[in-house]
Amino acid sequence: MSRFTRPDWISAQRVQLDSRLALADAVGPQHGVSAQELADLLPNLRSVHAELGRRRASGELGFYQLPGQDITPVLEAANWVRDGFDNFLLVGIGGSSLGPKAAHAALRSPLYNLLSREERGGPRLFLLENIDPVTVSAVLRHLDPARTCVNVVSKSGGTAETAANYLVAREWLEKSVQNPREHLIATTDPANGDLRPLAEREGWRTLPIPPDVGGRFSQLAAVGLLPAAVCGIDIAELLAGAHDMDLRCATPDLDTNPAYRLAALHYLADTRHGKPMAVMMPYADGLRSLADWFVQLWAESLGKERDLSGKIVHTGQTPLPALGASDQHSQVQLFVEGPNDKLITFLRVEHFAEAVQIPSLHGDVGSLAYLGGATLERLLNVEQAATEAVLRERQRPTLRLTVPELNPFAMGQLFFLFEVMTAFAGGLYGINAFDQPGVEHGKRLTYGAFGRAGYPDLMGGGGK
Ligand code: PA5
Repeated sequence: MSRFTRPDWISAQRVQLDSRLALADAVGPQHGVSAQELADLLPNLRSVHAELGRRRASGELGFYQLPGQDITPVLEAANWVRDGFDNFLLVGIGGSSLGPKAAHAALRSPLYNLLSREERGGPRLFLLENIDPVTVSAVLRHLDPARTCVNVVSKSGGTAETAANYLVAREWLEKSVQNPREHLIATTDPANGDLRPLAEREGWRTLPIPPDVGGRFSQLAAVGLLPAAVCGIDIAELLAGAHDMDLRCATPDLDTNPAYRLAALHYLADTRHGKPMAVMMPYADGLRSLADWFVQLWAESLGKERDLSGKIVHTGQTPLPALGASDQHSQVQLFVEGPNDKLITFLRVEHFAEAVQIPSLHGDVGSLAYLGGATLERLLNVEQAATEAVLRERQRPTLRLTVPELNPFAMGQLFFLFEVMTAFAGGLYGINAFDQPGVEHGKRLTYGAFGRAGYPDLMGGGGK
C-alpha cells in the first residue's frame, strides 16, 4: 500500500499552523487580532472564497490545477538531462528561479554541488539569475559546456535579464559544442513570447508553463518541477503535498483552512493593528530560500497602487526574510524592542534529517558544560520557542508553522499554502494579486533605453 493511501502517514506529515500568539488574548487588543474581528470578516471571506472558486472553475487561476497535472513530460525531460549531462544551468529570474532554489535548498544537501555524482544522485545545479557580470563570468568559466544543459525559464519569453543571460550562455555553448540546441531546454508559455518560437524553430526540448499560471505562482509547474526532478527530488510527492494542502484549503472556514487563516490574520494585523511588515523566519537553513520565495510572492502580489475599482489604495505589507537562530544575533533585537509593526511567522522543523549530539566536554567550563548531551535540533527549536516567548512578553504578535520534517510532501504543502494565502489576501485587500504593473513599467523603460523595437526611449540618451 502506498503511503499516500495511508491517512495516518498523511496526518503525521501535515504542516500545522498555531496562531494563538497573534491574537488579542495573547498579546493584547492593540496588537493582536480579536475573535470579533475574525467573525466580522466572515461575509467578506465567503465572497472572496466564492470569487476564487469561480475563477478557479473558469480556468483563470491555473496554479490551482497544478497538483493534478501529468508529470510524464517533466520526468522524460529530467531523465534526458540526468543521462546526458553533469551540470544543469537554470537561466531565469524572479518567479522563474526563486521557487527552484527554495525546493533545492530544502530537499538537497547544502553541499550538493560538492558531492560526487553517486552521492548527489543527479547533475550539479547552477543558476544565472541576476545580470551581474562577475557572477555570470564565474559560473560559465567554471562549467564545461560539453557537459552542461542550459534551461532557459521565462513565462513571458522576453524578460531582459533572462534574455541577456541566455545570449551570453548561448555564445558560450556555440564556442565549444557542435549542436547548442542539444544542450537547451526552454520552459515557457505554450504560445506567447519569443522564446517558444525560437526554441521550436531550432528544435530544442520545451516544457510549458500553463498560460493561466503567473511567474510567482509557477513553482509547481515545469519551472520548479524540472530542476527538482533533475536533482533527484520526488516531484510526485511534492505535488501530493500540494494536493493535500488544496483539500485543507477548500472551505471558507478560518478554523480549519490554514491559508485563509494566515491571510486573514495578516490582513487584519496590517489594516487594523499597525503591522505593515510581515516577517518570514524559518529556523532551518534549508528553508531560508523559501522565505525569499515568499517575499517575492507576498510583495509582488499585494503591493498595489489601485484596487479593483481603480481607487488609489497603496496596499501591501513589506515582507522581510529572517533566519533563526542566526538572526537572533541581528534582526531579533529590532523585532523585540524596535517598532511594534511586524507580524512574524516562524517556520519550525520538528525533526531534522540529521542528528548531531553536542558532546559532553569541558565539564568544568560553565558556558560549555550545560550544552553537553543535547542535540543541535533541540537547541535550535528551544531557541525558536524562546524568541517566541520574548516577543509575546513584549506584546508582539507571532504565528508558527510547524513542519514535521523537510521532505517533498512538506515542501509541496508549503508552496501551495502560501500561494492560496496570497491569492486569498489579494481578495481581502480588493486588489489584483496576479499582475505586476509597477514591475512591467520598469521593464518597458529598460527596453526603450536599449532601443528595443516598439518601446520609446523615455529615459533619454539610449542604454547601450
Ligand atoms: O511573478 C512574476 O510574474 C515575475 O516575478 C516574473 O517571474 C519575473 O519577472 C520573470 O518573468 P519571466 O518568467 O516572464 O521571465
